[in-house]
Amino acid sequence: MANRSHRNTGHIGMNRLRKSGGVHSSARAAPAPSSEVTSHIVAVADCLETLRRIPSGSVQLVICDPPYNINLAAWDDHAHYVDWAGKWLSEVERVLMLLANLIIWTYPNGISAQRFFANRHEEIAWFARTPKYYFDLDAVREKLDAPRLEIYKRDKRLNPESLDKGINPTNVWRIPRLNGNSKERVGHPTQKPRELIERIIRSLSYPESTVLDFFAGSGVTTRVAIETRRHSICSDVDEALPTFLRRHLDQISGRGPLASDYVLIEHQDWSSHQLFRAVYEA
Ligand SMILES: C[S@@+](CC[C@H](N)C(=O)[O-])C[C@H]1O[C@@H](n2cnc3c(N)ncnc32)[C@H](O)[C@@H]1O
Repeated sequence: MANRSHRNTGHIGMNRLRKSGGVHSSARAAPAPSSEVTSHIVAVADCLETLRRIPSGSVQLVICDPPYNINLAAWDDHAHYVDWAGKWLSEVERVLMLLANLIIWTYPNGISAQRFFANRHEEIAWFARTPKYYFDLDAVREKLDAPRLEIYKRDKRLNPESLDKGINPTNVWRIPRLNGNSKERVGHPTQKPRELIERIIRSLSYPESTVLDFFAGSGVTTRVAIETRRHSICSDVDEALPTFLRRHLDQISGRGPLASDYVLIEHQDWSSHQLFRAVYEA
């Protein structure tokens, strides 16, 4: 599948813009964050019920980690998966349209195989609503150690100021999956690593914007939203979501955000909540 890095016209345009002293829309600063408390809706609800309550254009980022339909758990068996996925995808379409990047999440650990190559990756498709999508590369650059920095700086094609900030993590992300005995685990069978969700949230949403995850599973998105000062709306059909989330919050108590820095809004009518605000476009 074509990726944005294959489009040379884009690179040429960016270089021209930089030389003329211009700034690309995705590099402009997002609205300045305030010191307000962040709000986090946590609901036990079907994905379509959640989506239908969300006004168009009111969230900055949708994180979507749907059931795989490979019978991993009771929730992972859909007789008409494609029809069902079409329903929530058409709701999401209200806010998304453009493939910005296809990301490969690769990990060293996984199930072994004898009759095929053992799987060690999953794809993450990043869709944007508009070509003026928000992207904060600086928030997720990978720092270079001193010897590597020196080597990279010898390459005159590379921008030395950008190198000091760190390098682009590329669209291949090497982040281990959570082992069964990982301290991060809260009991959900397909819980994603915090590091993975954090990279998505930091790069694709700005502080105090609203992140939506209607297949919230363990509640890791809420946890990361709290840690990175975003608002969030997270729901899952599984009634265990609030319990899993409390375990996440126990892990962050005592370090990072204080309980007074955020509010959890559970089991109430949240459709007109203040957290619905216009999304930021550069
Ligand atoms: C792959 S898991 C998400 C895991 C989550 N990203 C995490 O890291 O913890 C998919 C989730 O979708 C939920 N689910 C399945 N059918 C659903 C539906 N119709 N509406 C809402 N949630 C549903 C399941 O309960 C499961 O928690």
